[in-house]
Amino acid sequence: MRTRVLSIVIIATIPLFGAGCSKQVSYNNDVNPILVSNCLTCHVGGEGTEKSGFSVQNYNSLMKGTKFGPVIVPGDSESSTLFRLIGHKADPKIQMPPHHDDAQAGGQLDPLTEEQIETIKMWIDQGAKNN
Ligand code: HEC
Repeated sequence: MRTRVLSIVIIATIPLFGAGCSKQVSYNNDVNPILVSNCLTCHVGGEGTEKSGFSVQNYNSLMKGTKFGPVIVPGDSESSTLFRLIGHKADPKIQMPPHHDDAQAGGQLDPLTEEQIETIKMWIDQGAKNN
């Protein structure tokens, strides 16, 4: 009897974990607000857009990337420059938003929170859709 109750509990918990991992991240509701509050000042016509050509103005400009090409590889966050820059996986000089003393860009800002970084990572891994 006791084992039966336990196995019911275990079986009932598995789909919950599954649902947690597959939460659909939305560009409009989740990703864009992070970019607006942390990148917009420099990356909609500001210093960042002037130097790199990268604008977070809308989905299309985001996917277009810099003057050298895309910074998002849909489905592959680890290969995406954007994720590497915000996720502390690049040289401190070029991490975004700039938050190190030796940053090339002006301004000392706060890095994104772990939760914000994870949200953008999941969105890219889910295909970086315009959703
Ligand atoms: C204080 C201004 C500022 C803020 C805020 C800022 N950036 Fe930047 N960003 C820059 C500048 C300046 C450059 C160009 C650096 C260079 O080319 O030397 C740049 C370059 C970039 C690039 C292009 C890198 C490349 O490979 O050429 C990306 C992508 C980028 N930023 C993403 C972001 C994101 C995402 C945010 C918000 C989380 C952000 N930036 C916030 C100033 C800023």
